[in-house]
Amino acid sequence: MIDRYNRDINYLRVSVTDRCNLRCQYCMPKEGVSSVGHHDILRYEEIERIVAIATHIGITKVRITGGEPLVRRGIVDFIRGIGDIEGISDISLTTNGILLSSYAEALHNAGIRRINVSLDSLNAEKYREITRGGELNTVLRGIEEVYSLGFSPIKINVVAIKDFNDDEILDFASLTIDRPYEVRFIELMPLGKASTLNLGRHLSNKIVLERIGAAHRLETLNGKRNVTDGPARRYRIEGAAGEIGFISPVSSHFCQSCNRLRLTADGHLRSCLLLDEEIDLRGHLRSGCSDADLEQLILSAIANKPMGHDVNCDEVHVKKCVKDMSSIGG
Ligand code: 5AD
Ligand code: SF4
Repeated sequence: MIDRYNRDINYLRVSVTDRCNLRCQYCMPKEGVSSVGHHDILRYEEIERIVAIATHIGITKVRITGGEPLVRRGIVDFIRGIGDIEGISDISLTTNGILLSSYAEALHNAGIRRINVSLDSLNAEKYREITRGGELNTVLRGIEEVYSLGFSPIKINVVAIKDFNDDEILDFASLTIDRPYEVRFIELMPLGKASTLNLGRHLSNKIVLERIGAAHRLETLNGKRNVTDGPARRYRIEGAAGEIGFISPVSSHFCQSCNRLRLTADGHLRSCLLLDEEIDLRGHLRSGCSDADLEQLILSAIANKPMGHDVNCDEVHVKKCVKDMSSIGG
């Protein structure tokens, strides 16, 4: 479905839970987020119904996110079911990697090949600090496991944080030299309850790129491959097996090429990550709406998808999005 700004909306990100087995500092306050009640989270059958209807209006790609999707019971069978929906040609997963080594094989069997793993430090102590208790080695083992099973692409998402991991930029970049990983630096966004904590910790990707460029010869990859680039600006260290990507929602908006909708864990459809406008699909689903009604609701989210957001590094704008990333899905 082409929206009014000529964007082909074919990608749906589905948050299956707002719960998480980590408490990353920039995402949640120390005590965690008060989880949405069990009853308010969409049931798997409800999500499947929404996805099936969304395929009628051009959704072909689905990414499963959270919170942490692997903490929800029955997730593997659910993923297999989504992959079996006619019209879905691509299904991928975003995870923090803590449960990855135990789930890797089952996920592979369920049809997942594309995986994004969040990893903000390669130092065990700092990883424990930013995640409030996570074990780095567990995540590294998970990444090894998906690599040896042949998952591809394996993307490693690094939120760049001033005075926290800016001294690790080159270490992250080096991960791409021998392995075909795609390390992607993501600018810290001012979202949800933790947003005030993020003030002053924003690091522009321009600086990250400059640091890597000063140490390595980089070739630019955008437009060279016959795939949609998504929001990342992509580079390769000369001769490296993998790639480095930059996702810069704050310093340079990529809204003009945004092809996605988001389904939140509590069943609301969101056309923009950073604006708090949502359509309550759950309410309609549970009051017995027809497939045709649901299709109309999804169409109206596309019709109202904004041209862009105005979130930037300027602190004036930090209150734009009050919902937490853990329930929207990254
Ligand atoms: N800013 C940028 N990235 C964020 N993520 C979660 N919260 C934020 C934020 N405030 C990232 C996670 C994960 C992805 C789903 O979103 O680290 O990589
Ligand atoms: Fe699209 Fe909103 Fe993201 Fe911009 S912020 S790229 S409009 S979802």
